[in-house]
Amino acid sequence: MIQKPKGTYDVYGQYGKNLLYVRDLIQFVMEKYNYQYVRTPLFESSELFHRGVGETTDIVSKETYDFVDRGDRNMTLRPEGTAGVVRSFIENKMYGEASQPIKCWYYGPMYRYERPQSGRFREFYQFGVEVFGTSDPLADAEVISIPVNLYKLLGLKGIKVKINTLGDNESRLNYRKALLDYFKPHINSLCDDCQKRYSTNPLRILDCKVDHNLDIMKKAPKISDYLNVDSKIHFEMVQKYLSAMEIDYEVDESLVRGLDYYTHTVFEVEAQVEGFGSQNVLCGGGRYDKLVETIGGPSTCGVGFATGIERLITALEYENKLPNNDNSLDIYIIPMTDTCKSLGIKITNVLRMNGFNCDIDTMNRNIKSNFKQADRLNTKYVIIIGDDELNNNIFTVKDNKTKEEYKIEYNNLVDFFDDKIEEDV
Ligand code: HAM
Repeated sequence: MIQKPKGTYDVYGQYGKNLLYVRDLIQFVMEKYNYQYVRTPLFESSELFHRGVGETTDIVSKETYDFVDRGDRNMTLRPEGTAGVVRSFIENKMYGEASQPIKCWYYGPMYRYERPQSGRFREFYQFGVEVFGTSDPLADAEVISIPVNLYKLLGLKGIKVKINTLGDNESRLNYRKALLDYFKPHINSLCDDCQKRYSTNPLRILDCKVDHNLDIMKKAPKISDYLNVDSKIHFEMVQKYLSAMEIDYEVDESLVRGLDYYTHTVFEVEAQVEGFGSQNVLCGGGRYDKLVETIGGPSTCGVGFATGIERLITALEYENKLPNNDNSLDIYIIPMTDTCKSLGIKITNVLRMNGFNCDIDTMNRNIKSNFKQADRLNTKYVIIIGDDELNNNIFTVKDNKTKEEYKIEYNNLVDFFDDKIEEDV
């Protein structure tokens, strides 16, 4: 049997309902925040991710799905959303729009060739936002508040917000130099990956999962000692605005994030849920004031984040916060004979177009099995269509709970259900 590719999964049944519930709430929250929806292609030219996400990142160096298309172009399935949205911002000249900043959100699949495990897939979905055109720390705080408020609205209790700053370019370069000087005599005691990071991106040595317990890691220089005044003020203001929104957070100086484009604020939100496992980072993001320029646009500040949908749903499952949507059906139609089917589908169609959730038997069941099916579908009302109904245009409607019966004329069906189903709500 042909099986799904490793690291992917199918959506059906209850998981499909859970997904739609979360997606709808995301849209609701984004409307409240006044963000616009954007969608970019699933694949982009490989160069975009090399320049955007960073040549030396794990994502680009080890995890991309690359292919050459039939026109000999190097293409990559997007491993994350930011680079594509930045490309779109530049290509569509959004920087020239009258209303600034540009605030947008996206939802869709991303592809990373990672080792599949719980909470880590090769095809996974992200909801993310990007804000362009403002350097105000208020924007950083607003962006951090989005996942926090979304998680709260979904009912998640155990969340931990971690923030840090990487400072502006000047601070970051000074810090980088300090790290190089500090780690130089210890280079041989670092893991293989960190030895590579030493020359490519020494900041990433700090969030190494292998070396993080080493004494030299604990004594490493801290970014806070290398921040210039502007960077310090920016970070202080972000914290002030988070406090104004009563968002609890923790400053974690080892948080550097795995993508190259960040400047100033970086953050992650963890699920503090017992038994959740190691893939407990629900979302991550930060400011990227140089990325638009790197990708070929005019100098424009940016800040954003993305949350993994699968991890979010797992956290909701652990905390038992997914709604028990019974998805009851308003009306189930039973045509008793073949000749009644046309009238049956006509009525089904009219009722659906009038806003009722309506279904009709297509399995040619007998009446008893049809009532069983109506029960399985948690149906409120059943309409039985037999030869009498066909001839008289009067229908037997049965309340599936009380078993009460009504005789309703064709022309009064919609009004009848309008009254009844509204009453039930
Ligand atoms: P990221 O930290 O690489 O950031 O990914 C964000 C979130 O996507 C993670 O916290 C996690 O929940 C989820 N995620 C990542 N990889 C996987 C995977 N293999 N399987 C399941 N879930 C995964 C970014 O992608 C940045 N573009 C975020 C951003 C937007 N920064 C600024 N703007």
